[in-house]
Amino acid sequence: MASGKIFFSALVLFVISVKLPEVDAGIKFNEAFMDRQRGMHILTSMKEYENKQGFEATLGFVSESGNDTYGEDINPLQVTVRIEKKTRLRVYISDYSNSRWEVPHSLLPRPKLSSKLKHVSSPQLAVTYTRKPFGFAVTRISNGEVLFNSTPPTTGNKNLLFNSLVFKDQYLELSTQLPSTAALFGLGESTRPDGLKLNKNRTFTLWATDTGSIRTDVDLYGSYPFYLDGREGGLFHGVLLLNSNGMEVVYQENYLTYKVLGGVLDFYFFLGPSPLDVVDQFTQLVGRPAPQPYWSFGFHQCRWGYRNVSMTKAVVENFRKAKIPLDTMWNDIDYMDKYKDFTNDKERFPLEEWRAFVDELHANGQQYVIIIDPGISIAYQNYGTYIRGLEANIYLKKQNGENYLGQVWPGPVFFPDFFHPNATQWWINETQSFYNQIPFDGMWIDMNELANFCTGISCTWNGTIIDDYTSCYLQCPNVLNHTKYDIPTYKINHEGTYEGLGYRTAAMTVKHYDGTIEYNVHNLYGLSEAIATNKAMTIVREKRPFVLSRSGFIGSGAHTAHWTGDNGASFNDLAYSIVTVLNFGIFGIPMIGADICGFNDETTEDICNRWIQVGAFHPFSRAHNNIANKPKELYLWESVTISAQKALGLRYRLLPFFYTLNYEANKKGYPIVRPLFFAFPTDPNTLNVNYQFLIGNSILVSPVVTANTTSIEAYFPKGTWYNMFDWSKIQSVGENFTLSAPWDSINVHIHEGVILPLQESALTSIEVRKTPFTLVVVFPSGALSGKANGYVFLDNGDEIIIYLKVNKSSLIIFEASLKNGEGVLKSKLKFKEYALEEGWILDGVILLGINTTHTSFYFNKNSINPERKILGEEGLHISGLNYPLGEAFELKWN
Ligand code: GLC
Repeated sequence: MASGKIFFSALVLFVISVKLPEVDAGIKFNEAFMDRQRGMHILTSMKEYENKQGFEATLGFVSESGNDTYGEDINPLQVTVRIEKKTRLRVYISDYSNSRWEVPHSLLPRPKLSSKLKHVSSPQLAVTYTRKPFGFAVTRISNGEVLFNSTPPTTGNKNLLFNSLVFKDQYLELSTQLPSTAALFGLGESTRPDGLKLNKNRTFTLWATDTGSIRTDVDLYGSYPFYLDGREGGLFHGVLLLNSNGMEVVYQENYLTYKVLGGVLDFYFFLGPSPLDVVDQFTQLVGRPAPQPYWSFGFHQCRWGYRNVSMTKAVVENFRKAKIPLDTMWNDIDYMDKYKDFTNDKERFPLEEWRAFVDELHANGQQYVIIIDPGISIAYQNYGTYIRGLEANIYLKKQNGENYLGQVWPGPVFFPDFFHPNATQWWINETQSFYNQIPFDGMWIDMNELANFCTGISCTWNGTIIDDYTSCYLQCPNVLNHTKYDIPTYKINHEGTYEGLGYRTAAMTVKHYDGTIEYNVHNLYGLSEAIATNKAMTIVREKRPFVLSRSGFIGSGAHTAHWTGDNGASFNDLAYSIVTVLNFGIFGIPMIGADICGFNDETTEDICNRWIQVGAFHPFSRAHNNIANKPKELYLWESVTISAQKALGLRYRLLPFFYTLNYEANKKGYPIVRPLFFAFPTDPNTLNVNYQFLIGNSILVSPVVTANTTSIEAYFPKGTWYNMFDWSKIQSVGENFTLSAPWDSINVHIHEGVILPLQESALTSIEVRKTPFTLVVVFPSGALSGKANGYVFLDNGDEIIIYLKVNKSSLIIFEASLKNGEGVLKSKLKFKEYALEEGWILDGVILLGINTTHTSFYFNKNSINPERKILGEEGLHISGLNYPLGEAFELKWN
């Protein structure tokens, strides 16, 4: 990793000499904050860019008594501040003299510091700085509000943690001041019992760890050092610290402090001002979310413990009999021969029978996904995948060059190093030859934190395989003989702290291809594997890939979907899963869901019933179960079957809408499901809503998340909302309502001002695609005038990229207006050809918020007499239009 070096030579052009100043005795700021640091970085030279859109500076370290608690202070430092876009600013701080570890551009492409600076016209962000100590503040130009400020406060509680800047080899620290009204969201991954908004006096540890999401407030599967910050008046901005090392982010009173174990401080500020703008600007930098195939928006069924083909097949059959939609069937590690990747158990999953089953799924318009883990078994000398990996020499290494030995499900394993230039091709080849035997449609990459059931660098294996695969049975003599990387002086509060950072993962001195040690790249394993897997699936299927990864990093959304991991079958887990799902929309991974009915523990009818009512509306909707537990399939209870039919029935009707949001996610980064404040940023009440969510901007899901509950309190932002099951109305000024929620119902409401495309429900998404469309047009209740808008994006759902192109896709825009009670609804098409070719039909229109006594209707200027049905108090469903969706139309009523 040498980008620091490139930068160094560029910097020399600007900086003539670096002279460390004398210690300034007259430091004015609150000395209390200084006590902790006993030294500071001072700006020693500075060169502003000619166009004034940034500067490069050097910092010298001065110290009164020296403070080496976490190692020596690096001196001098280099700072680069750049306006990269109108709404994006970067502040980069690193060692002046030596290059340091940074997230590789191959994993996360982004502008290099050595690249020529482009002039940005009217930037909306500005930076100011202080010299002693060096601190910087980022300001929103339009209102002068300070968004981030690393200058120490001049007053305040001296016991609080605030450091402008500490920069040592293995310890970086930087704080920012925040106003007391700031509302922060993000900084994952962890399960949040507090709800969505970050609570003060919490520490967020970012270290990829294989521990169940059943644990709250601990480090989890991935690292996402990004937060959204909402300020008074509904203005939002985002802050990314692009750093892959282990870190803690401490939120104390009005300060946020990063404590990072290495790398560089590479901050990006995204100006917003709306939450959607922030996510747009953020994903523009880190990668737009990968488009997901159409079928992946259908329902998925999985469990660990479908032990053979006939058991798996029976589940598919049971779904069909129960009339519950099912698009995708999954198999967990059960299918493998002795848990070896890319193999099948010859007795339980014999190839012929297995293949016939998958062919049958395909014939029925269903799909099939399998799991693959990174650990490659070394226990069998004739295991081709292992041998070819040895030949390509792609396994993680110890410092002495030997392959690093760990243990996962198959027992002793080596781990592929996706930094190795041959690893991706090896992975593609293995995927291809297995795909040739069994044509799976998606790949589920699990255990990629990297999970290891042993801790230590020099484990050996005595040649036996023991049935109890989850406890380490390798011989790991010097587990406690750790290096400064395994147990750094500063200890982040992660799982297994006692045994160091290498606890149940690769030891921290394990080497990757470019020489980088695990210590630096640990949090990137999931991302590197997702990139290779996405490529492999694209090549073997020649269609849009579907990848589900447990571990991830900033930018993972461009390659994979994610699920919330090993949750429990409890109402708490159900509630927390909503928060995690919403957080992943913020992290740029909008294809996200939780194990419906709960993975660990026995579930109950009540839990499973309420969970499908929520999970049906999450972007990725999959039920899953642990091998240790009794079956949890939805059809096992009559009540859950009815709820699933209702909730998934509506989801399947909403598929064109989900798919349009998938298109939007890929183009703009917008989350598919969103916290309420995404659509109502100026309504401060929305900042505190944890367990309700929006699909897009307009469909509000208000679930039950507690046991034995038949009514709930739910918040409704201002406006008219209609219940999508019975079309009853809620008129809100921005207030709470008590909603009835009998066991078989979930509250789903649609907001005024929207036009929503619906199709008919069916048992698979392929069948849905053949059904006619109905448009739901929502006006504010009682208004004699108003407007509504919407659009739908349609393509074949499996093209590798998702784009608007003649003959490949159509985008249909709908606009409606009401004036003095007379209404008009029109469509406009961008590329009608595809919609015409598919032969989609517009059958009906549901008008909400109108006087239902209308009798005069004109379709393309001709008077018509459609079938009419009154829905609720203000809804009128007219049907039988039977008109091509691919042709523009105009419907008028008065
Ligand atoms: C991990 C996964 C879980 C999977 C199990 C067996 O615990 O998180 O989903 O079922 O491994 O592969």
